[in-house]
Amino acid sequence: MRHLMNPLDFSVEELDQLFRLARDMEADMPKYAHSCAGKKLATCFYEPSTRTRLSFESAMLNLGGSVLGFSDAGSSSASKGESVADTIRIISCYADICAMRHPKEGAPMVAASYSGVPVINAGDGGHQHPTQTLTDLMTIRSLKGRLSDLTIGLCGDLKFGRTVHSLINALVRYDNIRFLFISPEELRVPDYITEMLKEKGIPYEEVIRLEEILPRLDLLYMTRVQKERFFNEEDYVRLKDFYILDKAKMKLASEDMLVLHPLPRVNEISVDVDDDPRAVYFKQAQYGVYVRMALILTLLDWAGA
Ligand code: CP
Repeated sequence: MRHLMNPLDFSVEELDQLFRLARDMEADMPKYAHSCAGKKLATCFYEPSTRTRLSFESAMLNLGGSVLGFSDAGSSSASKGESVADTIRIISCYADICAMRHPKEGAPMVAASYSGVPVINAGDGGHQHPTQTLTDLMTIRSLKGRLSDLTIGLCGDLKFGRTVHSLINALVRYDNIRFLFISPEELRVPDYITEMLKEKGIPYEEVIRLEEILPRLDLLYMTRVQKERFFNEEDYVRLKDFYILDKAKMKLASEDMLVLHPLPRVNEISVDVDDDPRAVYFKQAQYGVYVRMALILTLLDWAGA
């Protein structure tokens, strides 16, 4: 039985296979309409979500399976003090696979170590968000046609942004990747990531101004400054509108630079960018359904379920 805690839990070859399956699902949904008949997915979300939880549920329903779960820790027995270890033992009696989001880093990993069914990390604190990364990689692979030879700008909250940490981890396994980190001083990418890049000899630059590097990018990955990760409101208010990508700035970018965003957005991408063909963040959310379908089916197959 395999779990997914980190994008690196899958080899590059396994990811490639997963993306091929997801593309096949995209092209021929009816072929997979009964692939998970009789199987149940539990979504255990201790933190708010729209895309991740609902795309998991949509994915399982597309595969002919059923879903159960909770979307708020307050409505689960966590509010009475139940541990994640006990909860997952119970979920293992009720479902065949579980997607878990938790505000505490490492909580899904604890769950996996007590679970009788595959556990998928659906986001743990500021740590990792591997299924968002699968979504991002599938979007890039589908729309750019490659996962190598790319100059990627990551902009916004690079300190607490788990989607950013997971994506960098995953992309370093492909050839000729160069990163441009665009953030205010207070939200710089953590040292453990820059140390890892130095060790692997992967080029990166850290800059504060978005405008100056836009013309060099193949991809711009925008992120939200996350209110829920700040300890004080004053810092959040000061930094929340530090970057706003708008039509004027898009004029500085190349004709084929793609704009991705894990969403939700607040103000960091102006709505006047939504109609630009280079803005692919809503398509990206759609790819999230196909890749989660492929992931559920693959993990259930590997578990012999
Ligand atoms: N991208 C993402 O994780 O969105 P949700 O928080 O809505 O799940």
